[in-house]
Amino acid sequence: MKMVCCCCSYKRNRGKCKLVLLTSSLCIITWIILYDQIDDTLNDGNKHGYLLGDAGGILDHQGNIDIAQDHHNKAMKSYVTVKPSDGENLAKRLNTKCSNYLSKLPKRHANFPVTTNLEYKIMFCPMCKLASTYWTRFFKLLEVYKKNSSISTPYDIPLKKAPPTKQRLTILTGDKNTNFESHYKFLFVRDPYARILSAYVDKLFAPNPFFWKSLCRKMINLFRNEGEYKAPCGSDLQFKEYIKSINTAHTRLYNRGTVDCHDETFTGACHPCEVQYDFVGKMENFSSDSTHIFKKLQLTRSIEALQNKGKQLADDDALNDTVTSPFLWKNEIKTCIPWHEALNRIWKKLQIRGVIGKQPLSLTADEAEHITQQEFLDLIKQTQKLTSYEERKKQRHDALIEIYSQVDQNDLEMLKKSFKDDFELFEYDISPSYIFNDRMKTVDYYGYLEL
Ligand SMILES: *[C@@H]1O[C@H](CO)[C@@H](O)[C@H](O)[C@H]1NC(C)=O
Ligand SMILES: *[C@@H]1O[C@H](CO)[C@@H](O)[C@H](O)[C@H]1NC(C)=O
Ligand SMILES: *[C@@H]1O[C@H](CO)[C@@H](O)[C@H](O)[C@H]1NC(C)=O
Repeated sequence: MKMVCCCCSYKRNRGKCKLVLLTSSLCIITWIILYDQIDDTLNDGNKHGYLLGDAGGILDHQGNIDIAQDHHNKAMKSYVTVKPSDGENLAKRLNTKCSNYLSKLPKRHANFPVTTNLEYKIMFCPMCKLASTYWTRFFKLLEVYKKNSSISTPYDIPLKKAPPTKQRLTILTGDKNTNFESHYKFLFVRDPYARILSAYVDKLFAPNPFFWKSLCRKMINLFRNEGEYKAPCGSDLQFKEYIKSINTAHTRLYNRGTVDCHDETFTGACHPCEVQYDFVGKMENFSSDSTHIFKKLQLTRSIEALQNKGKQLADDDALNDTVTSPFLWKNEIKTCIPWHEALNRIWKKLQIRGVIGKQPLSLTADEAEHITQQEFLDLIKQTQKLTSYEERKKQRHDALIEIYSQVDQNDLEMLKKSFKDDFELFEYDISPSYIFNDRMKTVDYYGYLEL
C-alpha cells in the first residue's frame, strides 16, 4: 500500500489517485517495478561495453575512462578526478532567473512530496522518470550507511525495503520560502523532449496491460471517434496521440490542476524558485552529477563501490526491469496482444534506447511462445555485441528524430508552451532543429514504433 500512496503523492488530484487504488494489486507491482525503470543515461557511461547504464554508473564516459581501467590500484585516489559537476552553478543561475518568474505566479499554497534526511541535512524533490527509484534507495542507504558496512550502494537496498517518504513540503507559490534552510536541497532534471519520449516508450509502448487499460484507453477515447479501430485493452495509443493528451492535460491544468506525474513539469512539481535549491543535477550527466551528491555527504565507501561495479549493477538492474516484468505478466499481456508482439515491443524499446542495433527480432510466433526469460536476455546481449557503442548512440538520437517527426507541428508548438518554464529555467533548447526544422532530413526512416 505504501507504493500506492507514493504514486498518489505525485499526482495532484484525488480522482487519479482513486484510479490507481482501484486497479488490481498487480498495479502496485507495476508501480514498484516500472516506477522509473531504466533510464537513458546511455550517453553517460556505457563505453565499456555495458548494456544499459542508468542511475548509478558513477563514471562518465567523457573525461575519465582511465579510471575504470585503473581501478585496482587507485580507485580511491582517482575519484577526485571525476569530471566536476555543473549542478551548483546551474542552481545559482536558476536562482538569478527566479525573481522575474516568481512575480508572475498567483499566490496560493502548494503542497508537494519531498524526501529528506535530517542526519545528513539533505532534501530532494523526486520526479517520475528521473531515477526516482534510485534516489529512494539512496535515502534508505543513508539510514543504514553508518550502521551496516556491508551496504555500500543504493543497489544493495532491496526495492521492497525502499518505500518513498511521505514527507511533504508546503509553500506559498510566488514567494521565496525558507523551509529546510539548513538542508542541502537538490533535484534532477532532464531534457523534456527526451523525458516525454521515454515515458511513452517505457510505460505505454512497452507491454504493460495495467497502463493500457487505465491511461491509454482514456487517451484513445479522447482522440478517436466511435467506429475507429481501438485495440483491446487500449494497447495501440500512438505517440502523437500521447502528445495531444499531454497538451490537453496541461491546458486544463490552469483550470483544475491535474496532470499525470509522467508529464508534469519540473517547475510544477518541484517549485524551483520558491525552494532555493543548492544543486540541480541533469540526467544527461548522471554520473558526475550523482557523484557530486555522494562526495558532498562524504560517502566514501559508496563512491568506491560504485566506481568498481556501478555500471554493471545499473545495467543488470535496468535489464532485469525491462525483461522481468513482462515475463511476470505474460498471462495478462496475452489477453491484450500476442506474446510475439510483446517481445517485439520490448525489442523496439531497446532499439529506441540504443541498447541494441537495428537487427530485427528473429523469432517465429512459436519460438517466441517458448523462449525463456534467460534465453531472451541472452539474445539481447548477443545482439548488442553486433554494433558499436557509437553506432547505437547515433541510432538513439535518430530514433528520437524519427518518432517526433510523426507529431503534428501544431502539437509540437503547444508542447513547447506546456514546458516553456522547464526549458528556460533548466537551460534546455526549446526548439532543437532536429525536432523542429530538419525533422526527418538527417535520418533514414526505420519504423521504430512499427510492429
Ligand atoms: C554536462 O556537464 C557539462 C560540464 O559539467 C556541461 O558542460 C554540459 O552542458 C552538461 N550537459 C547538459 C546536457 O547539461
Ligand atoms: C547488513 O546488511 C546485510 C545485507 O542487507 C544484512 O544481511 C545484514 O543482516 C545487515 N547487518 C546488520 C547488522 O543489520
Ligand atoms: C537481476 O536478476 C538476476 C536473476 O533474477 C539476479 O540474480 C540479480 O541479482 C538481479 N540484478 C539486480 C541488479 O537486481
